[in-house]
This record gives sequence, C-alpha cells and structure tokens, in this order.
Amino acid sequence: MSTTAEQNAKRKAGNYAADLVEDGMVVGLGTGSTVFYAMERLSERISDGLTVQGVPTSYQAAMRARHLGIPVTTLDDYPVLDMAIDGADQVDGALRLIKGRGAALFREKCVAAAADEIFIVVDPGKVTSILDAPVPVEVVPFALAPVRMAIQEIGGDPVLREGIKKDGPVVTDNGNFILDCTFGPIEVPERLEALLSVMIGILECGLFCEFTQKTTVLIGDAGGCRVVRAP
Ligand code: A5P
Repeated sequence: MSTTAEQNAKRKAGNYAADLVEDGMVVGLGTGSTVFYAMERLSERISDGLTVQGVPTSYQAAMRARHLGIPVTTLDDYPVLDMAIDGADQVDGALRLIKGRGAALFREKCVAAAADEIFIVVDPGKVTSILDAPVPVEVVPFALAPVRMAIQEIGGDPVLREGIKKDGPVVTDNGNFILDCTFGPIEVPERLEALLSVMIGILECGLFCEFTQKTTVLIGDAGGCRVVRAP
C-alpha cells in the first residue's frame, strides 16, 4: 500500500470512529497517526456543537487534543470511559493486538481497561493471521538487566529502543525504558502476555489479549471502512 493510500485508509478508519462518538461521552484518546485523524474529525464535530471530553494516553495525544480544541480530562475524574479510540501495530483475527510502537502502551492499556468499548483504527497493513511483530515491553530502568535476562529465558530477543534526535534510550511518558522483544510467530498470545505481566520490573507489555469482547476493529481502505467485531 502506498503512503498516500495508507494515509487515506487511516483517515477513513479515524473518521468512522469519531463519527461513533455521541454527545456527552468521555472518550479515551489513543496515540499515533491513525487516531490523529479521529481527533481531527472530533474537533470538526465539536465545532458543530458536539460535547465530548477526552482522556489522552500520552503527551502527544494531550498536546494534539488541546491543539484541536478537544477538552481533556483524566481517569481520576472519569475512571469509567464510554469508549476508547486507539491504533495498533498488529491485529489478528481474534482481535488480539500488539501495541506500543509509540511507547504509549501502558497508558493505552489503562484506558482500554477503563473503557466500556474499544475502537481500534488501522489500515489494512496492520491485519495479520498470526501476531509476529516485536512486542514492546515497558521496563523500570532499575530492573533492565534482570528483565532482559528473563525475556531471553522465555525465548525472546529484547532490544533496547533507542531515541531518534536523542542519544540513548527512549524514555517513556512514565520515565521508563522500552524493550522491543522479538518472539517470532506468537502461537498463544495470551500465554505470552501472562508470562510478561508477572515479570518483576515490567510495567506493562504491548500484547492486548484481554479486551477482545469489547473491541471493534475499524479497517480503513480506499472504499471506506470495514467493521470487525469479536464473534
Ligand atoms: C502507541 O504506543 C501505539 O500503540 C499506537 O497506537 C500504534 O503504534 C499505532 O500507531 P499508528 O496509528 O501511527 O500506526
């Protein structure tokens, strides 16, 4: 898919999600380029009279929301959200996700857990029959070496994410590091997520397997948007 076609697909998915937002809702705002289109559309709808509040999942999402005139709030004020709109790096047929390319996976998972419904906006290039992308893992810096070792012991190849236009490791919005962990094709993503989740020193991992029943995936393409729900 060309860059223009990819952007068009992302826009279609983002617009579709934003048009699902109802007056008065509180919405989780994900991070990344596809959610940006949803936020742009939400901004237009706010200009037309829609009342909505957003809970951003990162500094990027918060800054964009403010720039676009979307009122922001927090999980402190709204521990239960009407819905979340977020992107993904990979989606499989069971609506399990890999997230975290933007290093926002921890707050994205908090928002996903808090939301009644989750709308994942993607272009067709994100859809796969089996999850096999590197799994981003957010690690507390103090525990970097033992976590690396523990991930290698379960068959992973962890690579510390380096900054761009910043020397040294990426530091997340929560002050932690990211290990991008290659496992090859992930046969049982739930099992891997469970293994990573209990490792001391890991804040969160980018596998999202537990939300499939409340997840709808919106796959944009040239013609419109395909809506996929859990069976
Ligand atoms: C952020 O950490 C990620 O989980 C994003 O949601 C994901 O990388 C999708 O980003 P794009 O919409 O830019 O592909």
